[in-house]
Amino acid sequence: MTDPVDAWRRLAGTCVLLDGFHALKHAVRFGAEVPVAVTADRRAALALADELAPDVRGTLDALLTEVPYETYASLVPRPHPTAVAALAVRPSRQASLRALTDAARRAPVVVLDQPRNLGNAGAVIRLAAGFGVAGVVTTGTLDPWHPTVVRGGAGLHFATAVERLTVDELPRGPLFALDPEGEDIRGLKLPDDAVLAFGSERSGLSAELRARADHLVALPMRPQVSSYNLATSVAMTLYHWSATGGAVPT
Ligand SMILES: C[S@@+](CC[C@H](N)C(=O)[O-])C[C@H]1O[C@@H](n2cnc3c(N)ncnc32)[C@H](O)[C@@H]1O
Repeated sequence: MTDPVDAWRRLAGTCVLLDGFHALKHAVRFGAEVPVAVTADRRAALALADELAPDVRGTLDALLTEVPYETYASLVPRPHPTAVAALAVRPSRQASLRALTDAARRAPVVVLDQPRNLGNAGAVIRLAAGFGVAGVVTTGTLDPWHPTVVRGGAGLHFATAVERLTVDELPRGPLFALDPEGEDIRGLKLPDDAVLAFGSERSGLSAELRARADHLVALPMRPQVSSYNLATSVAMTLYHWSATGGAVPT
């Protein structure tokens, strides 16, 4: 049997850190390949699995190796209260592009146009997973697989396609760009093949993206408030899609 610490040190540079029980549980549920998983307290981790994830309890039982707490703590940037950590293989760019460009996709793609805040990107990936959208694309320099984004996504990067693309590479579909100056979303039905684009925290939609938009759409907001937070804007828009006929997987 391979020593988990050796395996960890060998794979840490290329794999994605799943920090804590919940991230591991989500990643396993959505089919992530997990070559190594450790815990400082196997009994407590499996008790959590019994309580919160009986569907993947058997897989977690097979994956988790107990190591001393000091060893666990030496493998992660900051120990998690559940003392569970794992490494997962990042899906290939080709696989993500296949999902994003699927001509028969039945749910929108979310585009974050030059986002800056890693926490916002993680929160949006979690939302995208919850609503069953086809994927989250970022433009610009932020890496949507940055460890801080993965931590914010709670292991749900494996439940939706996540990729960085240029504006020229965006998936096909009617482009709805969210902007306070747009048409009121309450009068619109967002189609299932929509590409829903959101601007950066500081400067909003880029000129490049704005020029390509088929529709500019506004979320209701009283006068004198300038804008909503990026992740909450995505939440409201996806909720609107679902409330007007969009099918969230059950
Ligand atoms: C924090 S806001 C950007 C604020 C930025 N200072 C600006 O000039 O637009 C981030 C993004 O959330 C979306 N957003 C925020 N409030 C919105 C609203 N009321 N209607 C539509 N989109 C909104 C837009 O896509 C916006 O670009």
